[in-house]
Amino acid sequence: MSIITKLALAAGLATALSTAAFAQDLTGKVIGFSQIGSESGWRAAETSVTKQEAEARGVDLKFADAQQKQENQIKALRGFIAQGVDAILIAPVVATGWEDVLKEAQEAEIPVVLLDRGVDAPEDLYLTSVASDQVLEGRTAGEWLVNQVAGKDCNVVELQGTVGSSPAINRKQGFEEGIASAANVKITQSQTGDFTRSKGKEVMEAFLKSSNGGADICAVYAHNDDMAVGAIQAIKDAGLKPGTDILVVSIDAVPDIFTAIAAGEANATVELTPNMAGPAFDALAAYLADGTEPEKFIITESKLYTAENDPAGEYERRKGLGY
Ligand code: AHR
Repeated sequence: MSIITKLALAAGLATALSTAAFAQDLTGKVIGFSQIGSESGWRAAETSVTKQEAEARGVDLKFADAQQKQENQIKALRGFIAQGVDAILIAPVVATGWEDVLKEAQEAEIPVVLLDRGVDAPEDLYLTSVASDQVLEGRTAGEWLVNQVAGKDCNVVELQGTVGSSPAINRKQGFEEGIASAANVKITQSQTGDFTRSKGKEVMEAFLKSSNGGADICAVYAHNDDMAVGAIQAIKDAGLKPGTDILVVSIDAVPDIFTAIAAGEANATVELTPNMAGPAFDALAAYLADGTEPEKFIITESKLYTAENDPAGEYERRKGLGY
């Protein structure tokens, strides 16, 4: 079974992959992909899936790793435009600062598809955006926590994603909405961990120090699983039990968080499928064939997983899929 098929089954995307996916051909098309970098397990999986999808569809994928820098992404886009590619995929590291280069792509009549993150730019500058509802992800995490603590006072520390990125902005907003009705649940500290495991750990260490060794913290909300995994290590190093002394809720559903949930060291995660490329290539195939305009926003599913959802099995289903 191919990696794509396995992922489709794991993420419940079999329909998306089996129906429209190969209906129109992209064979021989040259598509540039500007990826942010490799800050998280989820990002690595998205890169693998995109490469696999491209290969399966006969796309000549020009891959550019921006090493977390917007200037590198802008350079890569200009390079793709100069080469005259058929289309461009971009996962934009931050939300602002894209208008000029998107206009250049538009003037060159090259369709651009946004993957997994949004931009603050006029919608007519890109063909479509394939992403989750990031506000919903945050709200789902917040509502889960409110139910979990059932009226008990709960001080939450928040590990935010990359400053200025759409998931950091939207997941913060969503979580705040999710806890808004519960006066007992409050965010007491919030800082960026840049979506990485190492920074998640470092920031959590600082939170623990300034919160009576962790005694004053009831829960950590991390904008992705990698930062949650780093925080779990910091909690253990401080002599506390993650998942029990401090609840852990995050977003992505990568294999490592299922290991932590199975061990009782994390409590909940909201799934973000790494298969953004499948719907993106479907949209491009139709557009390049006959100008069919896709929906402006293609929204992927956001499912909550806890210890009740067979975390060991979820780990097995995801391991080896490029995370
Ligand atoms: O934009 C999606 C986010 O970026 C993922 O949640 C995170 O892991 C990644 O790096």
